[in-house]
Amino acid sequence: MIPAPATTTPGEGTYTLTSTTGISAPPELAGPAARFVEAVQADTGLTLTGSSGIIIELAPVDGVPPATGLRADGAEMDERYGVDVSAGGVRVWAATAEGIHRGLTSVRQLISAHLQDGTAVLPAGSFVDGPRFAWRGLSLDVVRTFHGPDEVRRVIDMLDLYKLNVLHLHLTDDQGWRVEVPSRPALTEVGATGAIGDRPGGYYTQDELADLVAYAADRYVTVVPEIDMPGHTAAVFKAYPELGPADPKTVELGNGDQLHLGTLDPARDETWTFVEDVLDAVIPQFPTSEYVHIGGDETWGMSDEDHAAFVEKASTLVRERGKRVVGWQEIARAKLDPADVVQYWLDLDIDAMADNPDAPTPPEELLPVLVEALRKAKHDAPKALDQGAKLIVSPVTWLYFDRPHADTSADPGQEQARERLGLEFYGAASLEHGISWDPSDIVTPDRIAGVEAAIWCETITNADDLELLLLPRLPGLAEKAWSHRTTTSWPEYATRLAEQSPAWRTRAWTWLQSTEVNWR
Ligand code: ACM
Repeated sequence: MIPAPATTTPGEGTYTLTSTTGISAPPELAGPAARFVEAVQADTGLTLTGSSGIIIELAPVDGVPPATGLRADGAEMDERYGVDVSAGGVRVWAATAEGIHRGLTSVRQLISAHLQDGTAVLPAGSFVDGPRFAWRGLSLDVVRTFHGPDEVRRVIDMLDLYKLNVLHLHLTDDQGWRVEVPSRPALTEVGATGAIGDRPGGYYTQDELADLVAYAADRYVTVVPEIDMPGHTAAVFKAYPELGPADPKTVELGNGDQLHLGTLDPARDETWTFVEDVLDAVIPQFPTSEYVHIGGDETWGMSDEDHAAFVEKASTLVRERGKRVVGWQEIARAKLDPADVVQYWLDLDIDAMADNPDAPTPPEELLPVLVEALRKAKHDAPKALDQGAKLIVSPVTWLYFDRPHADTSADPGQEQARERLGLEFYGAASLEHGISWDPSDIVTPDRIAGVEAAIWCETITNADDLELLLLPRLPGLAEKAWSHRTTTSWPEYATRLAEQSPAWRTRAWTWLQSTEVNWR
C-alpha cells in the first residue's frame, strides 16, 4: 500500500473476496460505503453485489498519533482508521466518516493488489493508520493548459486513491483567467480565451465548479482557489487594460513563451475595486475551503514596498471575508498574521548552482531577474516562521512535478513525450530521487502546515502529458505527506509502487512506465 500504514500486525490465514462480497454500513456511513463500491468497480472492474464480508463502523482508533499541521477546510477532523482482515471478513473502523473513507481506500488498494480472475485473496492482518500531516495537496496549473472538468475529476480520483486531501487550483495567470466573476465579464470573455501558444483557452462555469467542489468533497478533498496577484496578471490586463501598466513590458523566453513584467498597482483605487469584485465572486464558489490563495509570487519589476503593500491589503480583504490567507513564499516579505500560511517553493540555491558545472543554466535573458529572485528567496521561510506563520512544504527539488522524468519508459511510445515534458531548467529527476527526502529536512515538523506538490503546465499540452508527469510521482508525495516513516527505501517502495499499476491500467490513467519498476 501507498502511503505505508503507521503500524501493521500480521495475522493467520486469508479472506477471499469475490463479487458476492459486499459492505455492511450503518446509515450514517452510507456515503463512504457507496463511494467504496463505485471505486472498487473503477479500480478493478469487480462489482461487489453482496451485503456482507466488509463491516464499517464508527469507533475510536488508538495507537497512532493525530495529524499535525492545518486542514484546508479549517475543520477539526480525525482521519485515523483501523483495518482488520481475518478469515471471517474485513472490519474497518474510525471515529469519523472521513476516517472510514481513508480506511476503505486502503482496502481498495489491497483488493487491486491481490485480485486475480475476479477473486482477491487478502492476507489476514490488522493495521491502524493515520496521516502525519493534515494538509496533503497538489497545486494544479489550469492556465498554461486548460484542463476541463472531466480531467480535473480524474486528478481528484488520483488524489483520493493516495489519501491526498487538497486540490489547489491555480486559476489565474498571464496566459488565462479560468473562473467566472459576473461583475467583471471580460475576465472570462476576453481573459479566458487563450492559454500558452495556440492551445485552447477556457474557464469553469459556476455550475462546473460547484460540481467539482462537490465531487471532491464526496472524496474528502478540499478545493482551494488561487487568484495569483499582483503579478502573473497579464490576462487581467488584456481584459481590463486600465488596470495594467501604462507601458507593459515582456521578456521573450526563447521557447515561444514570454515573461510579463507588469503587476497590479496597490496605489490605484481601481485595483482594489477589482480585487474586491474578484474575491466577492470567487470565495462563494469554493465553500469547502477555509483559505484563499493569493499567489504573491514572482512580481517581476515591482518594488519590495509596493509588493508588501499589495500583499497586506489583499490579505486584509480576504480576512474581512472570513477566510484565511495562503500565498507563495514571497508573501513572507510583507507583514503576516500568524494564521496565514506560506507556501515554500524556491529551494534552488543560486550560489551553489553558480559553482556547480552540472547545474542547469537558465535562459540568458532571465538570468539577472532569477539571480535577484533567488537571493531574496533565501530569507522568505525564516521571515514566515519569525512571524508565526506555518509553511506548506513544496520545494522545487522534491515536489515540482513539472521536472522532466529521468527514468526511461519501458514503452517506446512514451519516450518522445518524456523527452518533451518538464522544464529543462529544473533538471530531470528519477522516481527514486522523489522519495529520498523528508519534510523535516526542510523545517521542523511542528511548523509545517502540510505538504503539497505543484505541477505547472508550460510543457504539458493535454491530459496524457499531465498524467505522465503526475504518475507515478503522486504516490511518492503521499508517502511523504501521510506516512509517519521518515525514510523510504527505494527497493521496498518500488515493490509497493509496482502494485499500483493494475488499478491505473483499469482506470486508463497514463503513467510513466519506468524501467526501474517491475510493474504488474
Ligand atoms: C511558482 O512556481 N511561481 C510559485
